[in-house]
Amino acid sequence: MPITYEHIKTCKQTGARLGRVHTPHGTFETPMFMPVGTMATVKTMSPEDLKAMDAQIILSNTYHLWLRPGQDIIEEAGGLHTFMNWDKPILTDSGGFQVFSLSDLRKIEEEGVHFRNHLSGEKLFLSPEKAMQIQHSLGSDIMMAFDECPPYPADYSYMRQSVERTSRWAERCLSEHHQSGKSSIQGLFGIIQGGEYEELRKQSAKDLTSLDFPGYAVGGLSVGEPKDVMNRVLEFTTPLMPADKPRYLMGVGSPDSLIDGVIRGIDMFDCVLPTRIARNGTCMTSEGRLVVRNAKFARDFRPLDENCDCHVCRTYSRAYIRHLIKCEETFGFRLTTYHNLYFLLQLMKKVRQAIMEDRLQDFRDEFFESYGFNKE
Ligand code: GUN
Ligand code: ZN
Repeated sequence: MPITYEHIKTCKQTGARLGRVHTPHGTFETPMFMPVGTMATVKTMSPEDLKAMDAQIILSNTYHLWLRPGQDIIEEAGGLHTFMNWDKPILTDSGGFQVFSLSDLRKIEEEGVHFRNHLSGEKLFLSPEKAMQIQHSLGSDIMMAFDECPPYPADYSYMRQSVERTSRWAERCLSEHHQSGKSSIQGLFGIIQGGEYEELRKQSAKDLTSLDFPGYAVGGLSVGEPKDVMNRVLEFTTPLMPADKPRYLMGVGSPDSLIDGVIRGIDMFDCVLPTRIARNGTCMTSEGRLVVRNAKFARDFRPLDENCDCHVCRTYSRAYIRHLIKCEETFGFRLTTYHNLYFLLQLMKKVRQAIMEDRLQDFRDEFFESYGFNKE
């Protein structure tokens, strides 16, 4: 098995899991947040920056790299790790989600999805087999099955058909993967769908776990549903997932949802949130979000977060960073991006420590109080 989960400890206060995932490019600790590098770069960050903040695994996207520069060029470079100079684990999403969120005029058929390139308008077709072939060229450690991520809300009968199709596609992904000769050096994760419907999540989990993937994701969340819906879905879905394999919640990255996901048994997360909001001047801090573009920071010479020990907070002031961002200076985007990623990686480190010490519920309550969630 190219991907294995080593369980270290279960938090006695919450049931949260502490572990490690072993991959062909090394090990990462769980629970873990994965910075997103859609275009084979975590926007504005070098691999050296990512290592300095202790990023242990990053995510990239099949769909975007297929369109630009094309998987043949990345394969010729020796794979995505070599191409972008990142020698630690990489997870690639399958393109399923991106086709649904970015492209126009898509038409879903049993064989796959027809759609138009969101850049050129060119007609394209993505199928389970094609999504596997592209990820084989990229050489990611963890590949994702090609799924359908329906919008929220979707009615029950549509969701049932979609779940059934996603299960058939998962089987095709697995057989393509096994035929490729790459299944000893790349691991393929299945994605559980089913929206907010317990019965459909059960069906999806049953179908996928019978296929024996080395890890499983919960998809179709963080698509506009209220937070309590996400928490409820996780409560009935994670118990259906194998305890001896990693569990990944796709597309979630707000600090409160990370903690609430871990409490419900999730090990891995990814999201563009920390990097995207950084580029419009919003920072995550121990006391909640700070919009550093704001005029009130013009003469504020304190760090972004007085409780953060990242390089940015030890070196630069709110006033300086505000100035850079207002002038759209690239360096400003680098500073806020670095801090936000450091903040989330550090949060996960504190979460792992709290699991180790059986006090994750206490940690959650203190964090929410300080971050200001209890006031919302
Ligand atoms: N990213 C966020 N949600 C999803 C999902 O449901 N499927 C896939 N493939 N990627 C996602
Ligand atoms: Zn900082």
